[in-house]
Amino acid sequence: MAPPASIGSDGVVTGPGAGKAEVAHAKLGVAGVEIQFEIGKHAHLAVAETSFSVADGEKLILLGPSGCGKSTLLKAIGGFIRPSRGEILLDGIPVREPGPDRMLIFQEFGQLFPWKTIEGNIVHALRAVRGCSAGEARDIAARHLEMVGLLPDRHFYPHTISGGMKQRVAIARALAVDPAVLLMDEPFGALDAQTREVLQRELNQLWAKTRKTIVFVTHAIDEAVRLGERIIVLTAGPGRIKAVFANPCAESYLADFEGDPAGAAELRKEIRGLLEQRPARGIGG
Ligand SMILES: Nc1ncnc2c1ncn2[C@@H]1O[C@H](COP(=O)(O)OP(=O)(O)O)[C@@H](O)[C@H]1O
Ligand SMILES: [Mg+2]
Repeated sequence: MAPPASIGSDGVVTGPGAGKAEVAHAKLGVAGVEIQFEIGKHAHLAVAETSFSVADGEKLILLGPSGCGKSTLLKAIGGFIRPSRGEILLDGIPVREPGPDRMLIFQEFGQLFPWKTIEGNIVHALRAVRGCSAGEARDIAARHLEMVGLLPDRHFYPHTISGGMKQRVAIARALAVDPAVLLMDEPFGALDAQTREVLQRELNQLWAKTRKTIVFVTHAIDEAVRLGERIIVLTAGPGRIKAVFANPCAESYLADFEGDPAGAAELRKEIRGLLEQRPARGIGG
């Protein structure tokens, strides 16, 4: 029998037996998940056995180089891809398909319905997903547009607003639906550097206000350190967990996003060192 899995103080489930019982109490549990794509006759391992859990209200970063399987893992949590092995549990219940309890935000700016206004996009989601009345949906939309500073712009159509504004609308829409977990796949990756920083700061502020459980994927070390409460570092493909850091700077960045808190430079350096290591070859066959 496989040895039992254990959950470390960092919340990570480890051990080959990591399974249902061990992650059942977490908000989100990823237990022994492996994801393989069939390409013709070949199998391509995108995510090697990975186990971790996410606590309620946590902001967790999955950090790894391009192609290491971050999006694949996030899509599996979203229910869009079935793991080849292992299980994903949300509030102890296996994820089998997509659902509004897991809203996913992508890097692309084209996530909004172009024929609906900013407000219309959010109202539509609330009516379709939550079954809200028109008046109720408008109230909830207004509250969330206020939170991202777009209430005065609510009658604009997506083609008239900037990329940063579009991502703010996508975030407001996702939060308005009130998912159990917000899944963010490099949402600021296509923004210019200045706007990216503004949105990073705003996300920290939103999270401080809502304490929504967030799994945020990025390949950028500075973004991970500024946003993560906990940072999981993945190896180059196939992705597997290389290290987990409880970010000692997380509170400082919430209070002062522009600051350079003690320990941040060291953490960035340590993570950079890990990401620059070549993948081990020949170990375990
Ligand atoms: N639908 C798919 N079919 C086949 N291979 C895929 C598919 N999606 C992703 N991959 C492959 O899986 C690996 C991980 O991709 P991805 O999750 O997009 O990485 P990341 O988001 O970390 O950049 C890559 O080698 C990629 O080519
Ligand atoms: Mg990706």
